[in-house]
Amino acid sequence: MQLDVFTLVPHAFAWLTEQRPVAAVLGDELDLRLFNYRDFTPLTGGQVDDEPYGGGAGMVLRVDVVAAAVDAVYGGIPDHRVVALTPQGRQLTQAVVEELAAEERLTLLSARFEGFDERVLIHLASDAISIGPYVLSGGELPAMVVTDAIARRLPGALSEESGLVESFSAELEGGLEYPHYTRPAEFRGWRAPDVLLSGDHRRIDEWRKEQSRLRTPQ
Ligand SMILES: C[S@@+](CC[C@H](N)C(=O)[O-])C[C@H]1O[C@@H](n2cnc3c(N)ncnc32)[C@H](O)[C@@H]1O
Repeated sequence: MQLDVFTLVPHAFAWLTEQRPVAAVLGDELDLRLFNYRDFTPLTGGQVDDEPYGGGAGMVLRVDVVAAAVDAVYGGIPDHRVVALTPQGRQLTQAVVEELAAEERLTLLSARFEGFDERVLIHLASDAISIGPYVLSGGELPAMVVTDAIARRLPGALSEESGLVESFSAELEGGLEYPHYTRPAEFRGWRAPDVLLSGDHRRIDEWRKEQSRLRTPQ
């Protein structure tokens, strides 16, 4: 998968690219490219933002700057999916992650300041995604959240342990979440569930599915 991220802070991604799961799939199943809007701005002095028409607080990421970056990389508006990260977008869920992970090429546009000039959302992006109903200072963390969630779904990101889980229950790898315990089996009288210590994978599998169902919000 080719994943392109447009950002004003590309170096923020250094940590992410050193960590699993991204590090495990990078350069192989995941071709992650980071583009800085400032490298493409047609304005002087590296300007990328401007005051909002009509006044108001903060600055806005200019549409001509975003368009210049997109044009330089793709030679025009690409025919693959271009997702703008905004607090008002469609909320990110595991189902949305699966959908994004199935794309061969994907572009994420992140903003800073007061966000994008609205024309970016209308004319340059194909859809908008929010990582939650709150407002962060920039789109870098949302882009990293999306990148991490996608990378986990690529086959090469599976650790040996999760591969083992999958071997006795493909369903469990599909995003279900159940409680995890590790050694010691008992600590201060707090015991791990006996079923997990039983070595009986069929019973463990059933217990995990049940726990997962109990955890899923109705
Ligand atoms: C300070 S926010 C812009 C807030 C803007 N006034 C608004 O309410 O949409 C700057 C940028 O951070 C990113 N961002 C902030 N919160 C986000 C969220 N929950 N999901 C996705 N992107 C977010 C977006 O790219 C946004 O344009």
